[in-house]
Amino acid sequence: MKPRDPIAIRELFDSISQKYDFLNDLFSFGLHRFWKRQLLSYLAPLSGENWIDLCCGTGDLSLPLARLVSPLGSVLGVDFSHAQILLANKRALTEQNLSISWLTEDILENNLPSNSYDGVVMAYGLRNLSDPEAGLKEIHRLLKSGAKAGVLDFNHAVAGTKTFYFQRFYLRLLVVPIASIMGLREEYAYLEKSLQNFPDGELQKKMARKIGFKKINYKILAGGQMGILLLKK
Ligand SMILES: C[S@@+](CC[C@H](N)C(=O)[O-])C[C@H]1O[C@@H](n2cnc3c(N)ncnc32)[C@H](O)[C@@H]1O
Repeated sequence: MKPRDPIAIRELFDSISQKYDFLNDLFSFGLHRFWKRQLLSYLAPLSGENWIDLCCGTGDLSLPLARLVSPLGSVLGVDFSHAQILLANKRALTEQNLSISWLTEDILENNLPSNSYDGVVMAYGLRNLSDPEAGLKEIHRLLKSGAKAGVLDFNHAVAGTKTFYFQRFYLRLLVVPIASIMGLREEYAYLEKSLQNFPDGELQKKMARKIGFKKINYKILAGGQMGILLLKK
């Protein structure tokens, strides 16, 4: 599968939706929850604020975010995979008093209002976009002036470093073989391909500066395996 082809990416996430959360827990040993909590603790969303979760998938980040801002504030989760959105909605219905809604849409082609949100999050979405810089521009457009955003994803490790080899072996020797057993070889082999052209932290910061964010920081997590781009408009 070609990375960054939006139709293929949407089909991929539709097709793996039922197993997605289980495999996420398995492959990260549950640590993705910790990294998402870390993202929220950097951003410190406040009760009453209105946030948006771009590339929300099954709502894994939208739900803890909604617990922080509800009932006076709200979260809008956006994803172009309708199968993922249906699962997100099902999860949200199991909790009371969450102010949360969902939108099935391509985040690079949305009609959401500009300068409207108190915060934006995106977890493991930027790497999948046909144009990551356009994704950052979209975040900038959606945020109110002075508002914050955080983008969590794999960190693009420098070739030849220990982090790079760890990432490569982890993907090739753990993720792909286990995914193959579940009939999802091609879908998870895509992960390594998606990392090849993914901008590293420095390049993400450079893009954000060019777009006009006022404060920009890149935090490394998990010994260099993950990174969080923190932004303020
Ligand atoms: C790796 S999943 C991450 C899901 C969730 N944020 C999480 O951390 O569990 C990436 C998600 O991005 C969505 N996605 C990728 N490109 C998109 C786009 N252009 N517009 C909307 N959603 C997109 C996919 O459908 C998929 O659900």
